[in-house]
Amino acid sequence: MKRREFLKTTAALAALAGSADLLKAGEPLKNGKAPEAADESEGGPLLASHPVLQNYAPTSMGVAFAVSALANGYVLYGREPDLSDAVKVKCGGFRTTDIGDRILHVRLTGLKPDTRYYYRIGADRIHYGGGYDMKVIGNEEDTRIHSFRTAGPKEKAHFCVINDTHVRWEPFGRALDKIAEIGPSCVVWNGDASNTEETMDAQVRIFFKPEVQCNDYAADTPYLFCPGNHDLRGMANRHLERAWMYRQPEERSSRDWDLGRNFAFRMGDVAMIGLDTGEDKLDGNPRFAGLFNNAAYREAQTKWLKEVLKRKDIKKAKYLVAFCHIPLFDPDPAANPGDLAPADSAPGFKKDYAAWQRTCSQMWGPLLAKAGCQLLVTGHQHRYRYDAPTPERPWAQIVGGGPFLTDEAPADRFPTVIEGRVQRGRLVVTVHNLRSGVVHDTWNFKPR
Ligand SMILES: [Fe+2]
Ligand SMILES: [Fe+2]
Repeated sequence: MKRREFLKTTAALAALAGSADLLKAGEPLKNGKAPEAADESEGGPLLASHPVLQNYAPTSMGVAFAVSALANGYVLYGREPDLSDAVKVKCGGFRTTDIGDRILHVRLTGLKPDTRYYYRIGADRIHYGGGYDMKVIGNEEDTRIHSFRTAGPKEKAHFCVINDTHVRWEPFGRALDKIAEIGPSCVVWNGDASNTEETMDAQVRIFFKPEVQCNDYAADTPYLFCPGNHDLRGMANRHLERAWMYRQPEERSSRDWDLGRNFAFRMGDVAMIGLDTGEDKLDGNPRFAGLFNNAAYREAQTKWLKEVLKRKDIKKAKYLVAFCHIPLFDPDPAANPGDLAPADSAPGFKKDYAAWQRTCSQMWGPLLAKAGCQLLVTGHQHRYRYDAPTPERPWAQIVGGGPFLTDEAPADRFPTVIEGRVQRGRLVVTVHNLRSGVVHDTWNFKPR
């Protein structure tokens, strides 16, 4: 099946399936007990999903979860496994806490690097009758205590990458099962989690209530998110931060205020760098009616990247690994480089959208090369590929596979989990083929 047809089919299937809840009224959370003191007077449990750990970092962690009705959520967290030292942090920020009926975000800040924390989620059911008519009318707390470790220079350097999951439950489920088996310190979700999402309910389904066995996938394993072109499409995805929160404001300068998901941090001997390649069509492409602004976004990230690569903790790491959705190199001279004005096509080039991102490559590639980056992990092309380093491009590029599991696509198109781990001083990258269930490739990298 061609890429576009597959996306259409997936959208049709998604519409048929609706937004069926995995956690039905009265059904216990997987691997946990039913929420304590559940107030079901308004039609079922208030806590509607497991927590999702967002934006892995040394001193902060995002905890997001879905709710079924108007609520004010919180996290109880501490260093003790029984939460006897727990402090309570409410959703939202300064001035007002948040009240929402779909997704609540709690930001834990001031954490210690390389440290394990325990936590549980809870929410107050809110009656809102107006600015002077607000009442707490119920409370639920998940009895299950989860835990996570923060990033830091002493942390186990071990990551997994998934990409182009495109709301396809079977390959996504297999990826999550493989990650559970591997047990990495963090996972990079490298874009195209979505197709075209018009509602927050659709986003809840993708990130909080995926129709897979392992639907508590990010309750104890922190995730990072590098958006893909599809994660910008649709009215809801224009504000994806309502589902996948931005990094904490104090983690970036005022100049970088709007770079909500870029990351640069240490995980043991690896410096992890997250970039966002944006759309795979030009801002000026008439199909987009002038409603995108990726050119300026890419330039802002270039300024940010230049500075973070000079940071001492990043410079000192033995390995520098970067992540973005659209590849920054393609060996095929006919591959569309994403800068063909005015409408993303020209004689001699395939397709009418970017197969790779020449603009980003020209801005970010030399900076990564100068900093000694050994590896860039990307996705987007729905076909696994390894591009060996060259004298001009000293970083290797691994392109993760797509969402095809069956004979709807050629055998060389298969979903991947890309695992990176520092073992005996070497960065070993293992490419797991989720279609055949075997290791497809293993690559070794020397310290810089
Ligand atoms: Fe994709
Ligand atoms: Fe893509």
